[in-house]
Amino acid sequence: MKTEIMGAEGIEYAATLIKRGEIVAFPTETVYGLGADAFNAEAIAKIYAAKGRPSDNPLIVHISKLEDAARAADDLPDAFYALAKAFMPGPLTVVVRKKAAIPDCVTAGLNTVGIRMPAHPVAREFIAATGTLIAAPSANASTHVSPTAASHVYKDLQGRIPLIIDGGNCDVGIESTVLSIAGTVPTILRPGAITEEMLSGVLGQVKLFTGKVDKAPAPGMKYRHYAPTVEAYLANGVQETDKLYAKLTAQNKKTVIIAENGLQENYADKPFIGLGDGEIDVARHIYGAFRQAEEGFDALIIQKLSDNGVYASVMNRVEKATARPSGGKLSE
Ligand code: TXA
Ligand code: MG
Repeated sequence: MKTEIMGAEGIEYAATLIKRGEIVAFPTETVYGLGADAFNAEAIAKIYAAKGRPSDNPLIVHISKLEDAARAADDLPDAFYALAKAFMPGPLTVVVRKKAAIPDCVTAGLNTVGIRMPAHPVAREFIAATGTLIAAPSANASTHVSPTAASHVYKDLQGRIPLIIDGGNCDVGIESTVLSIAGTVPTILRPGAITEEMLSGVLGQVKLFTGKVDKAPAPGMKYRHYAPTVEAYLANGVQETDKLYAKLTAQNKKTVIIAENGLQENYADKPFIGLGDGEIDVARHIYGAFRQAEEGFDALIIQKLSDNGVYASVMNRVEKATARPSGGKLSE
């Protein structure tokens, strides 16, 4: 199959493909998604096949307007509408009880569904043009880092999907916050740009899921995720980064350091990929930096970021990207 790339002029064509039961990659403000008609089980199967994704990992259902949430869920609670008022459209997915009309393959058999209204205008126009709801995971090959540019999607999925709508680089850069309000206490299943502080400002008590990953209520959490295809290490501070750099280069591994721009002066003689400065920049650039490292290096070292606010959500992805089966010890 030939994979076409079109700009916003491709939205009508994309909608036609969706109505025919095909899958289409589209931009959102977080990362690119790989969408299909949320009510068409055969189309959903094509998403899992194109990505190589395990079928017990549920998909998020994307809407273009708030009234459409009721097409995916029964009896939406007041908390849903309070969250929608504060954060929709935007980088938040809310998990609620699902409607029977949503096929089990979308939710991997769960009785809940994740609902999200993206802020990217191309995403919303595309979803609206299909007349349906769009089930979509991130548009990367399963376990690879999420795509934040159309070229990233092409690299991972060329030949496997008919169309990518190119909406430029993603503004947020990490996947949406996933918040479940299906249980007694609202629980963050995946941290993102909408932080715990922001959510508790609207809902009062909110907890961060910290339980065992194989018992995770978001099945996706148990899989290796966000992994670059080069060896990836996390180092705490300049000294540890230098030490590890020396060790890896002594093993003949071409190594690059990834950190905030302000730290570059510490690594003047070494290959360096800057993430910009501040939590917004770092989220926006993290996945692109991982992919850039894959182009010319054998290993990457990322210098540990702060764990406040959105930095903490970025660190959640970095920890997964640098996790080693033996526990991530730098000395191994
Ligand atoms: O920003 C995003 O959320 C992007 C864009 C395309 O919208 N999508 C995305 O989808 O990151 P995906 O499939 O890569 O990640 C969805 C996460 C998974 O960890 C999945 O387990 C969790 O959301 N999830 C989805 N539905 C759920 C449900 N009903 N209950 C618990 N977790 C759910
Ligand atoms: Mg994903």
